[in-house]
Amino acid sequence: MSHDVLPGDARVVFEVIRGRRCIREFIDKEVPSEYLRVIVEAGLWAPSGSNLQPREFILVRDKNLLRAVKLVSPGLYGNPSALLIICYNKNTARKGGRLGETMALLDAALSAQNIMLMAYALGVGSCPVMSFNKMAVKEILDIPDYVEPVLMISLGYPKSWPKPPRRKSVEEVLHVDGYGRRAR
Ligand SMILES: Cc1cc2nc3c(=O)[nH]c(=O)nc-3n(C[C@H](O)[C@H](O)[C@H](O)COP(=O)(O)O)c2cc1C
Repeated sequence: MSHDVLPGDARVVFEVIRGRRCIREFIDKEVPSEYLRVIVEAGLWAPSGSNLQPREFILVRDKNLLRAVKLVSPGLYGNPSALLIICYNKNTARKGGRLGETMALLDAALSAQNIMLMAYALGVGSCPVMSFNKMAVKEILDIPDYVEPVLMISLGYPKSWPKPPRRKSVEEVLHVDGYGRRAR
């Protein structure tokens, strides 16, 4: 489908979704606090299983802490101006019963996408980082046992916006009315 046929707002939303890239090199410029606040707020508006909202966020801005976290995070590239660590509260997640922890992880993932899209719409680069030493990060940031860090989002102004890595086509991944049946 040509995206030119999309009505105004839909085109903007799609452009934001498609334009966001993982940023791994940042310039030395702070992201304003008001931006960081609205970025977190966007995370809160993601869907939440049973609306339990077990997610909590730790914003790291202090340079020494950023350095310490980077040392234990092999997947964290560049020097972002801030890190947002998306966590879930295990006590809240437990209220979701057998599926509580799975829902909490999905909540965190959905929040992460909102956060990265909001950041991009503000001209702020981001990257989700899963490769970090959880125990070490918990210690550095005084995270209690009942809080589980899931994903870090690095935030900062990008050196450049990289070219998009290849995405599979709709035809490659879409099954219609049953697995193995392709769209015509
Ligand atoms: C669950 C998850 C974990 C990821 N962990 C890392 C990571 O530790 N370090 C990193 O640089 N990128 C990480 N990424 C980013 C992916 O490498 C990236 O999204 C992918 O290469 C596609 O690039 P794009 O997001 O710019 O389209 C992660 C992405 C996801 C969804």
